[in-house]
Amino acid sequence: MNYQEILNKGSKILRAKNIKSSSLDCELILSKVLKKTREEILINLNNKINKKQKKEFIFYLNKRRNKNPISYILGFKYFWKYKFYIDKSVLIPRPESEHIVEQTLKYMPIGKSMNILDIGTGSGCLIISLLKERPNCLATAIDISKEALKTAKFNAKLHHLENKIKFFNINIDKFNSNKYDLIISNPPYINKVDLSRLDEDVRLHEPRSALYGGVTGFEEIKKVIEKSSKLIRYSGKLIVEIGEKQKKYILKILLKNGFYINKICKDFSGKERCLVSTKIK
Ligand SMILES: C[S@@+](CC[C@H](N)C(=O)[O-])C[C@H]1O[C@@H](n2cnc3c(N)ncnc32)[C@H](O)[C@@H]1O
Repeated sequence: MNYQEILNKGSKILRAKNIKSSSLDCELILSKVLKKTREEILINLNNKINKKQKKEFIFYLNKRRNKNPISYILGFKYFWKYKFYIDKSVLIPRPESEHIVEQTLKYMPIGKSMNILDIGTGSGCLIISLLKERPNCLATAIDISKEALKTAKFNAKLHHLENKIKFFNINIDKFNSNKYDLIISNPPYINKVDLSRLDEDVRLHEPRSALYGGVTGFEEIKKVIEKSSKLIRYSGKLIVEIGEKQKKYILKILLKNGFYINKICKDFSGKERCLVSTKIK
C-alpha cells in the first residue's frame, strides 16, 4: 500500500464518523507513524508503507475514529509560538486563549521583573508562553489536578523555565501567599447544560475538571475573582478568559471585588472572551 492509498482509506473511515478534519487528521497520523513531516508525505504519495507502519497507522486511526482528539493522539499542540506536550491530564490549549497571552504582554514591559500567578495552569501553556517572552519575570502556577501539574512541569522543563515557575497542586480556595503584580486565569466555565452538548471529542476525552464550572458555569470563575482580589497588589492586573454570554455577570463580580474593567476583548469569531481588569479598591 502506498501513502496515497492509506490516506484515502483512512479519510473514508473518519468521514463515515462525521469527522470533518478527516484528511488532515490522517496526514498527521501518518506523519507521526513515519516520523516525517506532512509536506514530506504529500510530495511522496507513491512511496510504500510497510506492514508495521500500516498496523500502527490503523491503531491511531481507530483512536481518532473513537473521537480521541487528534492533539492527544499526536501528543502535542502548538500554542502561541511554542510546542507543548499534552496528554489526557490537561485541556488541549485553544487558539482563543492566545488572547490572554496577547493582552497580558501589554502589561509586562520588556525588562521589568514582575511576579505572576496562573490559576488553573493545565498544560502551563499560558504562563510558559508569557515567561518565554519576558524572561525577567517569575511565576507561580497552581492547579487542582496533580496529573495536570505533572504535565505543566514537564513543559516548563522543555522550555527551560523550571527555575522560574513554582508549581502548587492546590485548590484556589486554599491558596494563600504574598501579593502578585499580575494574575491570569482560564478557569473551567462550562455550565451543566452546555457540558452535555459539547462535541464528543471534548466531552468524552478532555478532563471534566478543566471544563465544568458548576451548574451555572460561574462557580470557578467566581472563586478565581474573589481570591485574586486578595492575592493581587493594588493596581495589579487580573486577566481572565470567560465563556460567551458570561460577561454581564462576571463584570458584576469584578466590580464587587474592587476591580476596574479596562477591556473586554473578542476572540477570532467575535465572541467576548478575555477580560482585563485592575485592582483599585
Ligand atoms: C480551562 S483549563 C485551562 C488550562 C490552561 N490554563 C489553558 O488555558 O489551556 C482549567 C484548569 O483549571 C484547573 N482547575 C479547576 N478548578 C480549579 C480550582 N478550584 N483551583 C485550581 N485549579 C483548578 C483544572 O484542573 C484545569 O487544569
